[in-house]
Formats: sequence, C-alpha cells, structure tokens
Amino acid sequence: MTPDPAAATSGPHTLLAPSPWVMRFVPLIEPGARVLDLACGGGRHVRALAARGFAMHAVDRDAQAVEPLRAMAQVTVADLEAGAWPLGENRFGAVVVTNYLWRPLLPHIVQAVAEGGVLIYETFALGNGSVGKPSNPDFLLRPGELLDAARPHLRVVAYEDGFVAAPKPAFVQRICAVREHPPAPAAGAGSHPAKYNL
Ligand SMILES: C[S@@+](CC[C@H](N)C(=O)[O-])C[C@H]1O[C@@H](n2cnc3c(N)ncnc32)[C@H](O)[C@@H]1O
Repeated sequence: MTPDPAAATSGPHTLLAPSPWVMRFVPLIEPGARVLDLACGGGRHVRALAARGFAMHAVDRDAQAVEPLRAMAQVTVADLEAGAWPLGENRFGAVVVTNYLWRPLLPHIVQAVAEGGVLIYETFALGNGSVGKPSNPDFLLRPGELLDAARPHLRVVAYEDGFVAAPKPAFVQRICAVREHPPAPAAGAGSHPAKYNL
C-alpha cells in the first residue's frame, strides 16, 4: 500500500487498543500457537497476543516500528508488495491482518493458515473514501471480497461488511475463518463437530 499521509498520522495503526474483532476470536486459536501478524505496524495485536502466550511472528516494512517487538516476537522486515512472499511455506495457527490490503497477497494469506488455524482479517472497504482515509480503491475491499478469498478453503465463522461509527467512522469488512482439520477416517455419526464459540 502506498503510504497514505493521513492514515499514517491519524489512522487506526496509531491506536494502541487491539481491535475488538481480533480479540473476540482469540479463543478460537489453539493455545501456544504460532501467530502471524501481517503489516503489524506498532504491534498492538503482537503485544496483546504475545501476552496471551502465543508465539508471535510480526511482519512489516517499517523497521523502526517493529524494532521494539523483537522482545516478544520473531520479526521480519519486508516490503510485502515487492518480491516474493517472505514467509515461504510457513503455516500459522492464526493469521491476523488489520488495516492493510494488498490484494495480490490474499491467496498467500489464506494459504498461511495451518490446519486447525484461524484467519482474522479486518480492513477498510469501498465507501471509506466518503468518510476518510484510505480512499484509494486499490486499498479498499470490494463487497464480499474477504468472503470470496476465504470461502473456497476455509470455513467462515463470522463475517461483516458495513459501516462503523467508532473508533472513527469507517467502512470496514472483517472475517474470522478457520481451516478445519479433515475428519478422522473413523469419525462416524456420533463424532463431535468442532465448536466455534461466537
Ligand atoms: C494502517 S497500518 C496498520 C498496522 C496494524 N496492522 C494495526 O492495525 O495496528 C498499515 C501498516 O502496513 C504497513 N505496510 C504498508 N505497506 C507495506 C508493505 N508494502 N510491506 C509491508 N508493510 C507495509 C505499514 O508500515 C503499516 O505499519
């Protein structure tokens, strides 16, 4: 995403509180799992999830922003929009992405979710230009876009696509989706379905 001066000074990555959407679905992440926070910025989710015992991997191109995160996370400084996907074949118990979109990465993001893992993604959607930044359609999700990216591969647990008034007025789309374990060969009619508490 090309730097957006307005977003850089007043955008959500300057807010320290973790997103309620992200925190809502933390109970679906397996305890102690490796968790990727892509385009993590100052690391509000890295900090919140490291404090809950997850093994964090933080990625951003802003070396200065991620430096303090080295105390609690593996850190990769990389430009996600240039060159190859920097995480290779790594798979994570959860992938968290907030307030960042570079649509060619969507297949990589979905693929990075391990079996039993969770994708938690929340970012701005088309229409946001009417209330603030970002306003460039390249950085705004199209209707249903997160759903379409996730659904062929993951089970969608929750999805929203609409307008929020706080912490600042914004058009957002957000999803929580899981890569289910394949059913055990012996699983019969009496087997227990996975429970995804909402
Ligand atoms: C709006 S901030 C969101 C930060 C964090 N996810 C949050 O919600 O608090 C967007 C982040 O994306 C990062 N970013 C933008 N373009 C990038 C790129 N090409 N490669 C890696 N990171 C990038 C920025 O450095 C910034 O930290």
